[in-house]
Amino acid sequence: MSKAVNIDWGKLGFSYIKTDLRFISKWKDGKWNEGTLVEDNKLTISEASTALHYGQQCFEGLKAYSTKDGKIQLFRPDQNAKRMQESCKRVLMPEFPVDKFIDACVQVVKANQAYVPPYGHGATLYLRPFIIGVGDTIGVKPAPEYIFCIFCMPVGPYFKGGMAPVNFTLSDYDRAAPYGTGAAKVGGNYAASLLSHEHAAEKGFADCIYLDPATHTKIEEVGAANFFGITKDDKFITPKSPSILPSITKYSLMYLAENYLKMPVEERDVYIDNLDEFKEAGACGTAAVITPIGGIEYKDKLHVFYSEKEVGPVTKKLYDTLCGIQFGEIEAPEGWIVEV
Ligand SMILES: Cc1ncc(COP(=O)(O)O)c(C=O)c1O
Repeated sequence: MSKAVNIDWGKLGFSYIKTDLRFISKWKDGKWNEGTLVEDNKLTISEASTALHYGQQCFEGLKAYSTKDGKIQLFRPDQNAKRMQESCKRVLMPEFPVDKFIDACVQVVKANQAYVPPYGHGATLYLRPFIIGVGDTIGVKPAPEYIFCIFCMPVGPYFKGGMAPVNFTLSDYDRAAPYGTGAAKVGGNYAASLLSHEHAAEKGFADCIYLDPATHTKIEEVGAANFFGITKDDKFITPKSPSILPSITKYSLMYLAENYLKMPVEERDVYIDNLDEFKEAGACGTAAVITPIGGIEYKDKLHVFYSEKEVGPVTKKLYDTLCGIQFGEIEAPEGWIVEV
């Protein structure tokens, strides 16, 4: 029997809450150790760690969901494990094995079971895996040692009062360079996005849209989420570019659109001058789930898709199908769910 925690599940936001245990594994002399669960939420690392100076680190984000029949499940953790390996390759860090990553996720959820929000609130347990370069290095080169960690906390649904569209503006800055690190989930990309986000928020927008860094003509990302649009003839369209973070939610939606909703799906260029091709649009990601885009401010005009107030029917159907699978109400494609 797990302990009781004093959390109002209906009031959770997206804030740090210290939970009981986190998983830590260390890499030294060419290998990862077995790893263990620890109580301490503080890391003691060298002041000369490459993660602190040169941004040699990467991270992931995924969730555990309580289902109606009392189970707890992870959504596609193998995909986060594989994406983390790709991020590691990009910044010369040792890859953490996929099976060990999934096992560590399961251990962390089990160890913090009291913090997994019960079914029915739309709340989930958010897992944050990360790897940092540590040890005594001052030159710009890969670290001699690494720490892999997964901690977790309960988080609320993105929309408290039900799904509602939000508006976006364009960023004044790029988040990625051509042939840069846009496709890797490394901290530097997010440091580079803080100022753009602040400018968008000051103007009253939820966040900003990033255009492709080479030509500034094509949509790449929507804040820390991927973009999708629904054309007037019901096609699911999402941008294709080497500097977009490959969103697991986006690839899941592409599969669901094609196989569950029988819609044609295209991953291709989406031009900012051609927003008229879409009757609905949205942002998708683990945190955002599906956030309907009311409008995009472009050339001093707000281009509204379906409505600034209501969610479009196709976006709603995609949202219901995805959440239905994540919360165990709809049968998932094979291999998508890992039961804890
Ligand atoms: C820049 C960026 N784009 C897109 C996403 C969405 O990815 P996912 O669906 O895997 O959470 C994220 C979040 O991980 C992100 O940080």
